[in-house]
Amino acid sequence: KIKIVTIGGGSSYTPELIEGLIVRQAQLPIAELWLVDIDAGAEKMEIVGNMAKRMIAAAKLDWQVHLTLDRREALKDADYVTTQFRVGLLDARLKDEVIPLANGLLGQETNGPGGIFKAFRTIPVILDIIKDMRELCPNAWLVDFTNPAGMVTEAAIKQGKWEKTVGLCNVPFGHINQACEVLAKEEKDLFFKFAGLNHFHWHRVWDQQGNERTAELIEKIYAPEHRAKTDEGLKNIHQIPFHYEQVKHLGVLPCGYHRYYYLQEPMLAHAVEEFERYETRAEVVKKTEARLFELYKDVNLNYKPEELSQRGGAHYSDAACDLIASIHNNSGKLMVVSTRNNGAIADLPFDCIVEVTASITAHGPEPLRWGALPSAARGMIQLMKAMEETVIEAAVTGDYGAALHAFTINPLIPAGDTAIKVLDELLYAHKAWLPKF
Ligand code: NAD
Ligand code: G6P
Ligand code: MN
Ligand code: MN
Repeated sequence: KIKIVTIGGGSSYTPELIEGLIVRQAQLPIAELWLVDIDAGAEKMEIVGNMAKRMIAAAKLDWQVHLTLDRREALKDADYVTTQFRVGLLDARLKDEVIPLANGLLGQETNGPGGIFKAFRTIPVILDIIKDMRELCPNAWLVDFTNPAGMVTEAAIKQGKWEKTVGLCNVPFGHINQACEVLAKEEKDLFFKFAGLNHFHWHRVWDQQGNERTAELIEKIYAPEHRAKTDEGLKNIHQIPFHYEQVKHLGVLPCGYHRYYYLQEPMLAHAVEEFERYETRAEVVKKTEARLFELYKDVNLNYKPEELSQRGGAHYSDAACDLIASIHNNSGKLMVVSTRNNGAIADLPFDCIVEVTASITAHGPEPLRWGALPSAARGMIQLMKAMEETVIEAAVTGDYGAALHAFTINPLIPAGDTAIKVLDELLYAHKAWLPKF
């Protein structure tokens, strides 16, 4: 029987997670489910926790659900610890978005200055959680959904030395669904191989006859005559079409987040327009969240409401629950996860964390070998990985020079006076969450 602990239990995504566990009840002998939050999220956890209890009761399951603000009490003898917390809640995200935007830089929660600061706030907390885990549940798996998931996973494994950490993202699901739709195939009839970093990966696709279908997908998704018939289903990313010639030259399929890099100017221009209309993603999500919690308060609601699909993290439960079930049952299922490279991507350090297709076993992910990336992708990913490493270094040391270097390396931040100004403004705005700086 297993004990699952979810840190950041007050998240509006919790019903998504519960639904995923209920669907997989045959594969997951759950005894206890603990939701953990902090004072600031206590009210949210109460509402969504009761909703979780109703969902579990409606499924006639005998799982014990506990809600607590005492992380240590929850972690005792846990088997799986999942994280879905946001340090500083949506107000902090708003600052990550509007401070860069007010200075003419992209404001986004996992890219550019905002992504760097989300890492600065989150990494000390994940390392603290690991300290508790070492003492209270030394054999548990840490399943990280908290963004920036790639950097948080790298910090957990390399700084926290918690080898049993796996990072997750829902973006690959969107791309898998899109490819199935375009090729009129079911997922089981296609073979997908992803490689890169979190929110910065590429993929290739083959069919059951062994034919590679990547080039056909590039054409059917990105050629001007086909363009815009489908998208990858990410509610939080404005769908400006990639340049067909560029993707064709690359020869592999990009992920939705590559728009911030391949289409930096139009994506920034769009973000600035939203900012001027008071419609940054944090502002939109605050309203969605308020509506969701109104629904969750209804004592007759015992299933995940449709409204939750308005959040960017749809399918999160498929990733988290499939991962736990696959580890628990040593299934070998192929999933896209953040894990140690171990040579899967030839162009990156052996021990760094990458997001790749891996076979999920009882001892964790065994990545599939991708090989080398085309030079156009290699140059960018090596830069991005160096940037991530520098961000993590700054987060653990509080070194201003390292922080400035991370800004300088980041392709979405021009080096010089603006970088310093935005860095200083964000350090000031987030002071309460940055004890190291
Ligand atoms: P949210 O703002 O609702 O925060 C979730 C909960 O975390 C809140 O109830 C908050 O009180 C709590 N929290 C904050 N600090 C905490 C701490 N130190 N310990 C315990 N709980 C704490 O956030 P959300 O919009 O539900 O998103 C949650 C997280 O999941 C974010 O980090 C977000 O970026 C991430 N996310 C990841 C993906 C992915 O693909 N990996 C997709 C969607 C969301
Ligand atoms: C995406 C990403 C997540 C991101 C989320 C944002 O799908 O994979 O990592 O956090 O959407 O969604 P939101 O609704 O909070 O903007
Ligand atoms: Mn993600
Ligand atoms: Mn730069």
